[in-house]
Amino acid sequence: MSRPSRFLNVPYGAWHAREVPPPDPLLTRTDPGTPCGEYLRRFWQPVAFARDLGDVPRRIRIMGEDLVVFRDRSGRAGLLQLQCSHRGTSLEYGILQARGIRCCYHGWVFDVDGRILETPGEPADSTLKQRLCHGAYPTHEFCGLVFAYMGPPDARPVFPMYDTFDVPGLELHPAAQFLLPCNWLQVKDNSMDPVHTSFLHAISSGYHFTEAFGELAELEWQETPYGMLYVATRRVGAFVWVRICDFMAPNVHQFTREIEEAASERIASRPVVIRWAVPVDDTRTLNFELAQVDPAWGLTPEQIARPGFGQSADRPYEERQRHPGDYDAQSSQRTIAVHDLEHLASTDRGVIMLRGILRDGIRAVAAGETPRGLGAKPGQTITTYCQDTVLRVPASGPDDRALLRQVGRRVVAGDHQRP
Ligand code: FES
Ligand SMILES: [Fe+2]
Repeated sequence: MSRPSRFLNVPYGAWHAREVPPPDPLLTRTDPGTPCGEYLRRFWQPVAFARDLGDVPRRIRIMGEDLVVFRDRSGRAGLLQLQCSHRGTSLEYGILQARGIRCCYHGWVFDVDGRILETPGEPADSTLKQRLCHGAYPTHEFCGLVFAYMGPPDARPVFPMYDTFDVPGLELHPAAQFLLPCNWLQVKDNSMDPVHTSFLHAISSGYHFTEAFGELAELEWQETPYGMLYVATRRVGAFVWVRICDFMAPNVHQFTREIEEAASERIASRPVVIRWAVPVDDTRTLNFELAQVDPAWGLTPEQIARPGFGQSADRPYEERQRHPGDYDAQSSQRTIAVHDLEHLASTDRGVIMLRGILRDGIRAVAAGETPRGLGAKPGQTITTYCQDTVLRVPASGPDDRALLRQVGRRVVAGDHQRP
């Protein structure tokens, strides 16, 4: 039998194209010890919202590791391996202590750093607790999110402080958490795929946001010290709307809120949403968001914590079929998207760049080098570009698309004055 074609060029040709090759293991496998898993573990990753740490521990799974996250009664967050070091009972049934967590089965107590504080059934002179530790990961709380560092202890990086964490006139809030039943990479591919905002969010499945999204943008992508960005520049009547979104390696991106009408001038407006895509395992991905909120919007914490339209499976299937959203588009690219079956086109240049940055990062970590996005100094603020800028720029006839590209580049360069 001849080898099935991956570039099918005959009608009624499905018979020739039935083979489904495996996904790319380098980019999609995140269990401990995998190259991508070890790369992702070099960065602080959100594992829970502080609002979800109550009077019982919380069982979680992050990159294929089963863990328990909790806040002890003196207010310290802990992230421990799930199975008790004694005989394996799950610490999700543990009892929170003034210091640490007590296993329900035989009462051993573990501090947030894994030190064993009590082994109450053992003889008083037992030295076991001085000799043994339980597996723990360091945590860091920021704006209502609990982050963990799950990489090698001697390579723990500074927690990255992006400039969008502090925007004058806006307030940063813990926002949504939502699960996608698919691999983390296709969730992140979406962040540098701006053409979908014109189709999925406007032209093909109905207007999800403003009408301006229905205009086709001139698209560009640029590398940045922390990852990359896209520039989507649209003509909306007498205005040019430049929307810039950032990808911060390895699994963070930020985008402007989808409220721009492009009906009046606006310079570098940035109420943004910052989103981490954390693999639960290779077939499920948890998105965690922080959001900049204008206090004038009068939103409650519950409203801020609600996922945006189409981001989760919160709508009936038939409605999602008629008006699909990001959840449907991303999670239906197979459970783990198969790159060998894709036919990447000109609008996928950003996806290609993003995967290149990840491959380089994975190889850097495997070679003992520092990947892009690490290496911030304590106290350093990382400058990013995410913004909506709207300028009044008259259309220039057949050259208008070139003019749009030029305006977009100037906005990235910080020059809004001379479009
Ligand atoms: S299994 Fe946890 S204390 Fe025995
Ligand atoms: Fe989207």
